[in-house]
Amino acid sequence: MELDRVWSISKLLTTCLVLGQVARPVLGVPVVDAGDAPFQHAVIGQEVQPERIYDDMDLLLHSSAASDEDNADTVTVGSQDGEEKTTFPRPSWWVSTLRARRLLALAKTGVVSTVFPDRIPPSSFAPPDVAGVSVPLPEYVADCDEALPDGNGGDGSPTFVGLKISTTFRNTAAGSNISLSLDWWDHLDETRPIYPGFPLSPAGLPRVTLFGYVVPFETPLPRGTKRALESCYLAKHPDARVWLPDQKFSPHESFWAKMVVTHVYWIGGFGDTQQIGWMNITEWSGIRRKGSLPGVGDGRGWDDVRLPGENGYYS
Ligand SMILES: *[C@@H]1O[C@H](CO)[C@@H](O)[C@H](O)[C@H]1NC(C)=O
Ligand SMILES: *[C@@H]1O[C@H](CO)[C@@H](O)[C@H](O)[C@H]1NC(C)=O
Repeated sequence: MELDRVWSISKLLTTCLVLGQVARPVLGVPVVDAGDAPFQHAVIGQEVQPERIYDDMDLLLHSSAASDEDNADTVTVGSQDGEEKTTFPRPSWWVSTLRARRLLALAKTGVVSTVFPDRIPPSSFAPPDVAGVSVPLPEYVADCDEALPDGNGGDGSPTFVGLKISTTFRNTAAGSNISLSLDWWDHLDETRPIYPGFPLSPAGLPRVTLFGYVVPFETPLPRGTKRALESCYLAKHPDARVWLPDQKFSPHESFWAKMVVTHVYWIGGFGDTQQIGWMNITEWSGIRRKGSLPGVGDGRGWDDVRLPGENGYYS
């Protein structure tokens, strides 16, 4: 029993070490000279290669990556003596982008980061020294562009109901950009261990961060747009009916807004089995529920992929 525990902890530690090794080349963070611009080597769709394989440890992350025609690498994990090996395709960047769009499509909440203005207005209750500091806050989201009669057919730009009193939307009104972080960690219990003998691990599940800015919808809204926004948004957030824009007895003034996405950063899970890095924004915004825009992808849309644990899908 005790031995088991020690064994698990040593596996976990090793995985963290490997993660550290994996993250470094992705971010392009220099190993020694931290004075360099840390992001200068970041490349869109960069291949993740561990610098070292910890093959001196008994378990492990002995992973091999070999491209096949599908551009999906094959990953083998398990001990080197071949006892416990499993093999599965490592998703290509394209498939990862489809999954990231699916993550947005299914998301109901996310963490939105904004930055307090450089000078906190005297009328604000915020302490003066949070000026210029980022503030991440959980917010409701809905992927509504597809539903809009005058939308772009579902281009991966999330919809918000912005409360004017909220810190997030005060900061955007003062000119802050936003980033939105989504994850699949709530679904841990539906997934399976990624490595033989390794515990269920949120760190092995996808998360994505969208960068961009908020654009309020025009007012007054065309009637069809208003109806479409309401039915799409309320399908995810029935409780939000009370504070929707134009709601008569709403406790707060609110407005419809969309997030224009300029960059997407993806962490598919552990770096030896998943992609980690910056996504191709043309692909991100070109993906639809079914298929994608001409010149993008291979005919698949975000409804053709699954996230870990969905409908018995595991890798
Ligand atoms: C920040 O927002 C401005 C518009 O307010 C936009 O032009 C710019 O692209 C945004 N930056 C990023 C990284 O999204
Ligand atoms: C992004 O994807 C598009 C469409 O597949 C492609 O034409 C473009 O070269 C890619 N951009 C980068 C920076 O890889």
